[in-house]
Amino acid sequence: MTAFPPFRVLFPNDQILRRTQELARQIHAATSGEPPMLVMVIEGARPFARLLQKFVPGNLPMHEVRASSYSGTQSSGAVRITTGADLPVRGRHVLLIEDIVDTGRTIHALQQHYRAAGARTCRVASLLSKPDRRVVTVEVDFLGFQIPDEFVIGFGMDLDGRYRELADVVVYDAEVERAFVAAAR
Ligand code: IMP
Repeated sequence: MTAFPPFRVLFPNDQILRRTQELARQIHAATSGEPPMLVMVIEGARPFARLLQKFVPGNLPMHEVRASSYSGTQSSGAVRITTGADLPVRGRHVLLIEDIVDTGRTIHALQQHYRAAGARTCRVASLLSKPDRRVVTVEVDFLGFQIPDEFVIGFGMDLDGRYRELADVVVYDAEVERAFVAAAR
């Protein structure tokens, strides 16, 4: 008996690791003249951001921003920055680190905010992107994987606080979850 329902694996942990190493190389090559200010969007991006931080040379410090617009599997639209709005970004090259870019609203709002606060550039590294869901046009400068319009969990990503600790990125399926819970009774 495993601890989690047998959801379909989209990206196993070792593939995430290899891809993150490649992204770290790209980031280093693109920014080594002036190391970026790493800003992870918590909570979901934490595992990806930590891995990226490990692989980008220079032992760069990590900052945190919390911006939420999400409840359940539907995006509500409004973006609120509740932590990290006052980071000292003036004159810095900011690198926002996201788990997944969906409608694009969160990243767009953060870029607008930090540019207005004086960041020289505000680029984006994201493990995943769902381009079919875009409402706002955003450029993901360093992208791990593009995925179709499916709700994914694991490797930091959650469904209302659950499944973040899964090592792989998997596709959430309510039916698989129901069957698993019923079998465990
Ligand atoms: P956006 O503002 O619509 O781009 O939403 C970005 C945020 O929505 C991400 O940082 C996630 O927290 C959340 N999100 C979007 N799609 C998914 C998903 O498939 N699984 C888990 N969280 C998601």
